[in-house]
Amino acid sequence: MKAVVYEKPYSVAVRDVDDPRIEHPNDVIVRVTSSAICGSDLHMYEGRTAAEPGIVFGHENLGVVEETGSGVVSLSKGDRVVMPFNVACGFCKNCLAGDTGFCLTVNPGFAGGAYGYVAMGPYKGGQADRLRVPFADFNCLKLPQSDLETDFILLADIFPTGYHGCELAQVSPGESVAVYGAGPVGLMAAYSALLRGAATVFVVDRVSERLEKAREIGAVPIDFSKGDPVPQIMDRTGGEGTDKGVDAVGYQAQAHDASHEEPASVLNSLVDTVRPTGRLGVPGLYVPSDPGGPDEHAKHGQLLVSIGRMFEKGQRMGTGQCNVKRYNRQLRDLIIAGRARPSFVVSHELPLDQAPQAYEKFDKRVEGYTKVVLHPALAA
Ligand SMILES: NC(=O)c1ccc[n+]([C@@H]2O[C@H](COP(=O)([O-])OP(=O)(O)OC[C@H]3O[C@@H](n4cnc5c(N)ncnc54)[C@H](O)[C@@H]3O)[C@@H](O)[C@H]2O)c1
Ligand SMILES: [Zn+2]
Ligand SMILES: [Zn+2]
Repeated sequence: MKAVVYEKPYSVAVRDVDDPRIEHPNDVIVRVTSSAICGSDLHMYEGRTAAEPGIVFGHENLGVVEETGSGVVSLSKGDRVVMPFNVACGFCKNCLAGDTGFCLTVNPGFAGGAYGYVAMGPYKGGQADRLRVPFADFNCLKLPQSDLETDFILLADIFPTGYHGCELAQVSPGESVAVYGAGPVGLMAAYSALLRGAATVFVVDRVSERLEKAREIGAVPIDFSKGDPVPQIMDRTGGEGTDKGVDAVGYQAQAHDASHEEPASVLNSLVDTVRPTGRLGVPGLYVPSDPGGPDEHAKHGQLLVSIGRMFEKGQRMGTGQCNVKRYNRQLRDLIIAGRARPSFVVSHELPLDQAPQAYEKFDKRVEGYTKVVLHPALAA
């Protein structure tokens, strides 16, 4: 079958790889019809991780069940399903608590597994014709037959992840929220904040198409290329700051003049933006080691964050991988009911064989490349 394979920094290729097969009675094989490219894939694409050449990318996957293992009870051939990017067992201590992003079974020695991702276990990615899904009864969310595939594919990661940012920050009706980053995750966080009844949502970025999408959904765009975003938001909140804040940027945060990376800049801006006793949700990714980091501390995942100011303001922060399974059923039902249409974030839908160009353009954030969905089924 065809699959998107990592070759070397800034290079992926569509190559022939072995078809997946049932390896355990609880597996299913899914024929992939949509697989999205994520900002997290870019960390591997840019050679910032220990990802080895040959890894098949793709942790945001939707498709049709083609084959079921003998132990699978709830799925049949022909079912349309979307999988959380987390691979989880459903029965360990963390899964039972709903923390499926930290499953203790699927990736020995590490809490949490994912498809097609370095250090997240042996699971191949779904930017391919077919995908093996382990613990399939737990990991597959069934979807109705409908023309909403571009909305449903976002249930694999970014819609729940944006929602998770709001849950970590406990965004509540009537509140003001600052979301840093207008990438797919930031836009989904802003959208989720509005779904949760926030009164005012600010979205900070410097990419104009992305800020425009934020405006379209009813958020207030803040362009950090025009100056420090903190006073811009302070001015609009009567000097008080926002009730809540979400970091949807992570360690690739840029300095305000975009001349270099400043990995702690968004965390520090959030501490300054959010009012005393407010909460910060940090789905943006930070790593325990970053060989390309700008200084010795950053290379070891240690950042200069103003913990003193956080203490002074009595703020609370939550972070980590999204537990997609905790939210995906409810968010699916909001889509089915017509109450959520997250697909506004999707800018490109392309056949699998255009993955190399799509990665290149998405990485450069050019031509309005906000979120790309690949369709293997169209590639033949
Ligand atoms: N926690 C999870 O489960 C989870 C899941 C998916 C993605 N992520 C992470 O979420 C983050 C965002 O993902 P994405 O796909 O939206 O990525 P992205 O790279 O497309 O978007 C990040 C955006 O942040 C903007 N930005 C850079 N510096 C900034 C600054 N100082 N202030 C404000 N904005 C700034 C960029 O211009 C870009 O538009 C990444 O770190 C990704 O790895 C986490
Ligand atoms: Zn993702
Ligand atoms: Zn588990």
